[in-house]
Amino acid sequence: MAWFDFKKATKKADGWLTEAEGNSLYRVAKKIKAGNAIVEIGSWKGRSTICLGHGSKDGNKATIFAVDPHLGSSEHQKMFGAVDTFKEFRQNISQAGLGKYVKPMRETSRQAAKRLNKSIEFVFIDGAHEYKLVGLDFKLWFPKVITGGILAFHDSWHILGPNLITAIALLTSSKIKNPKLVDTITYFEKVERNSFFDQLNNIMFVMYRTLFGIHGFLRLKLKGSNPPSPSQTWLRSHVAKGSVDGARDFVPDEGKYHLVPPEAREEDTPSVSSRELHLKG
Ligand SMILES: C[S@@+](CC[C@H](N)C(=O)[O-])C[C@H]1O[C@@H](n2cnc3c(N)ncnc32)[C@H](O)[C@@H]1O
Repeated sequence: MAWFDFKKATKKADGWLTEAEGNSLYRVAKKIKAGNAIVEIGSWKGRSTICLGHGSKDGNKATIFAVDPHLGSSEHQKMFGAVDTFKEFRQNISQAGLGKYVKPMRETSRQAAKRLNKSIEFVFIDGAHEYKLVGLDFKLWFPKVITGGILAFHDSWHILGPNLITAIALLTSSKIKNPKLVDTITYFEKVERNSFFDQLNNIMFVMYRTLFGIHGFLRLKLKGSNPPSPSQTWLRSHVAKGSVDGARDFVPDEGKYHLVPPEAREEDTPSVSSRELHLKG
């Protein structure tokens, strides 16, 4: 595949990832060095895994360890009852021709972190969204990422757990620099030691992101509309052009905060929005 076609590639895998987010995962995965690993926490039916897989395939063939017990997070269980996404996940990966690059680990983030002993250059975290569990993901995986590697958190500006954990990390860690936002994904780079300038930049980033969080929340409460995409604003030019290694050429576009089932994709009328899924109740 010369250029990644998000819509075509993820046609059969429903999920919440936007096109801009999928493209950004593709681009980062494409630059991960041969022999290094990519870890995904939370695969669901493989929408983000497919983006990572194509990136890796078109790049240096880094292996993707896709960690998920495949029983859904608490919000999915509330919404759908008991779920088991493993069969559909495997089918989607195999139909995408990515079986060679994706190694499913049907277990929790904690169990996988105990077993996986690789040189990890990129971790994408999109598992359980509760504050404690996102905190656990950060605690388990941050030390495992190599210096110069990248961490990314989905739903990081409108869901409290990932929002707070990434904010705390950015404001307190001396090993983080170059945060960047692509729709709801916060990316940052792990370094040996950040500079004073990096710390200032991290603070500025959290401030901008918080403003968008408040703006989105108020819009939801007052108008009942979807949260605005951060990339609809001047953040596009300010934050999104950061220089995370391997991610510096992101071009965020309009975010759609929807779970898009394959059959509804053409009509652009999603049946379940992330607002219903994540922000109600
Ligand atoms: C929001 S979905 C992931 C969506 C996926 N990244 C995509 O693009 O479609 C969250 C997933 O996290 C998984 N999950 C929940 N708790 C987990 C844990 N402790 N470790 C790993 N995965 C977990 C759930 O089973 C669910 O499939």
